[in-house]
Amino acid sequence: MEKFSDFIEKQVTRDSSLNDLRGVINALICCISDIASETNFGAIGGVLGNTQTKNVQGEIQKKLDVKANEIFIKNLRAVDSIVAIVSEENEKPIYVNQNLNEGYVVFFDPLDGSSNIDVNGIVGSIFSIFKINKNCKDQLDLLNPGSTQIAAGYSTYGPSTMLVLTLSSEVNGFTYDKNSHNFMLTHPNLEIESDCSEYAINSSNYRFWEPPIQKYIKECNEGLQGSREKNFNMRWCGSMVADIHRILMRGGIFIYPKDNKLPQRAGRLRLMYEANPMALIVERAGGKASTGREPILEVKPNNFHQRAAVIMGAADEVEKIVTYYEKFDSGELEFDSPLFRERSLFVERK
Ligand code: AHG
Ligand code: MN
Ligand code: MN
Repeated sequence: MEKFSDFIEKQVTRDSSLNDLRGVINALICCISDIASETNFGAIGGVLGNTQTKNVQGEIQKKLDVKANEIFIKNLRAVDSIVAIVSEENEKPIYVNQNLNEGYVVFFDPLDGSSNIDVNGIVGSIFSIFKINKNCKDQLDLLNPGSTQIAAGYSTYGPSTMLVLTLSSEVNGFTYDKNSHNFMLTHPNLEIESDCSEYAINSSNYRFWEPPIQKYIKECNEGLQGSREKNFNMRWCGSMVADIHRILMRGGIFIYPKDNKLPQRAGRLRLMYEANPMALIVERAGGKASTGREPILEVKPNNFHQRAAVIMGAADEVEKIVTYYEKFDSGELEFDSPLFRERSLFVERK
């Protein structure tokens, strides 16, 4: 089994542009092992529960959200090649070496799935790396579409600590060996199959979804007897890292769509810290990632904390949902008709 340091060495030999990135990646590895150690101690470490503070999103911060954020900031601040770091938990970017002519910008969700902390469920960290090659005059220079990310990854703090990373074209999974403090390449070249029979969505929002998503899930739930003519399984961890990880391990589709619970919001998840990095990973593993109306990686960001609808995973299933959105938006199918709901007159047959 290859050690992470040997893996990186090989990657740099193949692509010398990755050489500069090493400092950033090594710092991220330190963040992950530090946060893994905090989460492992759980109640003993006094890290469970809420703080008294709200983050920029107006959400009450968990103690571990704050701790994980501090760990990211401390480790990334020490890297010479970083221009700025941008955290889900901070209102504004933190400049590290603002005067560099060329350098990296790292966006991160220090702790994803925070509602799982207190129930000892799986949580993780997500990061997204961009390179900017001009002197950054304005904060907005830091905001670029996901298609320009050069690398992305996430960790899971679950039964084992894992890192999933995409540096060039591949997606690779590493497992943390607590004894030797090494990440080992345990899951090389991860790929997502184009079809699947498992979906992940928070079904309690059914009544708030747009008709294309209602139609898709309804058809999945009709199983063998419905138009899909097969049974679907459902899984939902309440933590995007855990749900996307499962999809990389055994396939499936993850959906957090736009809904009319809060109609002014484009979605629940955050574009820069969650949707973009996961979209890059999923697409490089052969899957697809869309908002339903455009590829996630093409969304032009105009705000550090903007939200996005997320539909990602098995390529054929994502494409199916995109087709439903096209038909819905063009009025081609009467999705919202009571006839569709009651008697499935408009369910497409194979
Ligand atoms: P975070 O903990 O960083 O705020 O993100 C939680 C996200 C994501 O991990 C998960 O898929 C989603 O929120 C679950 O949200 P709901 O439980 O509100 O549906
Ligand atoms: Mn998150
Ligand atoms: Mn978070």
